[in-house]
Amino acid sequence: MKSKILKELKNADDYISGQQLCERLGVSRTAVWKHIKALRAEGYEIDSVTNKGYKLMMEPDLLTKEEVASCLHTKWLGKDLYCYETMDSTNLEIRRLAEAGASHGTVAITEEQTMGKGRRGRSWLAEAGAGIAMSFLLKPQIEAQNSSMLTLVTALAVNEAICETTGIRAKIKWPNDIIVNGKKICGILTEMSLQMDEINYIVVGLGINVNIDHFPEDLSDKATSLQIEGGRKIKRAPLAAKVLECFEKYYDMFLKTEDLSMLQDEYNKLLVHTDQKIKVVRGSKEEIFLSRGINHRGELLVEDEDGKVSEVSSGEVSV
Ligand code: BTN
Repeated sequence: MKSKILKELKNADDYISGQQLCERLGVSRTAVWKHIKALRAEGYEIDSVTNKGYKLMMEPDLLTKEEVASCLHTKWLGKDLYCYETMDSTNLEIRRLAEAGASHGTVAITEEQTMGKGRRGRSWLAEAGAGIAMSFLLKPQIEAQNSSMLTLVTALAVNEAICETTGIRAKIKWPNDIIVNGKKICGILTEMSLQMDEINYIVVGLGINVNIDHFPEDLSDKATSLQIEGGRKIKRAPLAAKVLECFEKYYDMFLKTEDLSMLQDEYNKLLVHTDQKIKVVRGSKEEIFLSRGINHRGELLVEDEDGKVSEVSSGEVSV
């Protein structure tokens, strides 16, 4: 109910009366008052004027369930939403929820992550209030071999959400790093649980650097944040909600063909290093190629010095 009241306050252009809130939401005046009080305690500035009602004057930058739900316009993703102040890792949490029977589309978000996981066994730092650490559960009826493309689908969703919410035009480094001015602003980690070669469930996790004003020296040439790039702080809940909304759109397009046929052109427009020399690291092997964009399966097409083109399906790319 608190998130419904918040949604009404956010949608109202001016003061909205207690009576209107009661009628729209089917609750008593006392219940409305109780929730307004709770919202104020969380940091929302809500003005109240006799005979006029309530008006939302200022919203804090929170990733609470009320805040995220009040921004959410999805059909299925995030209908089951878990928001935490602190958590080991939202990917681990979604795994736990999945094992306990959670449904397709369940989302977990945390303010702070103490054991965040990155790709290739690396860790991912998420300090309270600074970013978005979010994971969601998918139970798709697709071939397990097609699941890796979901990482690229997520990259497209994050990219669009960043552009729509902040105006910042990011790029993608294959397969799924979101880059602004050559530095990483978001990482994506997709994990899968298999049962007899079939997908049991998939966990998609993403970390976005949002309100960070500087990075330690060892990271400052590799990492950036929306605050650094845009020169202002960004409200995280609308951004997190927009990522989920964009994911639903791109996921539908992916499911139509179970590949990236409908998304390949858009992805390639955002891809960095196309037609440039890149270094591809696979295990202990390092090779130099020309990058030629992705194919419909999300593999990176690379050209060797003899002009022979081959596909890279996993590995690390740098220049
Ligand atoms: C990368 O190495 O680029 C991937 C980083 C993924 C980090 C996110 S933060 C939310 C989710 N939970 C985790 O433990 N990891 C992912």
